[in-house]
Amino acid sequence: MFPWIMETRSPEQTQSLGEALGRLLGPSTVVLLSGDLGVGKTCFTQGLGRGLEIPETEPVVSPSYTLMNQYRGRIDLYHFDLYRLVTPEDLLDLGFDEYLSGDGVTVVEWGDRFPDLDLEGIRVHLEQGEGECRKISFSAEGVKNLAVLEAFRSQWIAAGEQYDRV
Ligand SMILES: Nc1ncnc2c1ncn2[C@@H]1O[C@H](COP(=O)(O)OP(=O)(O)OP(=O)(O)O)[C@@H](O)[C@H]1O
Ligand SMILES: [Mg+2]
Repeated sequence: MFPWIMETRSPEQTQSLGEALGRLLGPSTVVLLSGDLGVGKTCFTQGLGRGLEIPETEPVVSPSYTLMNQYRGRIDLYHFDLYRLVTPEDLLDLGFDEYLSGDGVTVVEWGDRFPDLDLEGIRVHLEQGEGECRKISFSAEGVKNLAVLEAFRSQWIAAGEQYDRV
């Protein structure tokens, strides 16, 4: 069943997917985003933030420079970007472990950057297609994360959403 692969054709569609997943997330969840520069990881997280009911007055922006941004919502969002980090120790210096074990949803752009960290979560991999097309694959580790993804997939299919399943 996984990876489950979707194709979006606009930033708005990628955000809608993120929002649908965000609505299903509970506390202490980790979402690991991967894919090339500019492919849509922050865009997906903006939708996910909507699903976590982060107010529109607190726009989700890229943490490329700040390394981490935090937002209050139905569940708090801890939004990390590992691109500029050199070693996993830099990440631990940011208090990453405490966030991971906190009540919020931790979203990590470049979540595949340090494989030795052995992170467990919902994995979202984005690939550039032609023009505004993006191939987005979902997979997960752990019983809880797999159950969330199964619910996500079933709801999406039941809702008859228009994006192609590849
Ligand atoms: N289908 C699509 N899904 C997502 N973004 C898209 C899509 N089509 C075009 N875009 C554009 O691609 C860009 C994605 O930028 P975004 O900052 O989300 O990427 P990123 O993966 O977070 O980059 P970085 O690696 O620099 O953090 C935006 O300008 C967005 O408008
Ligand atoms: Mg980004």
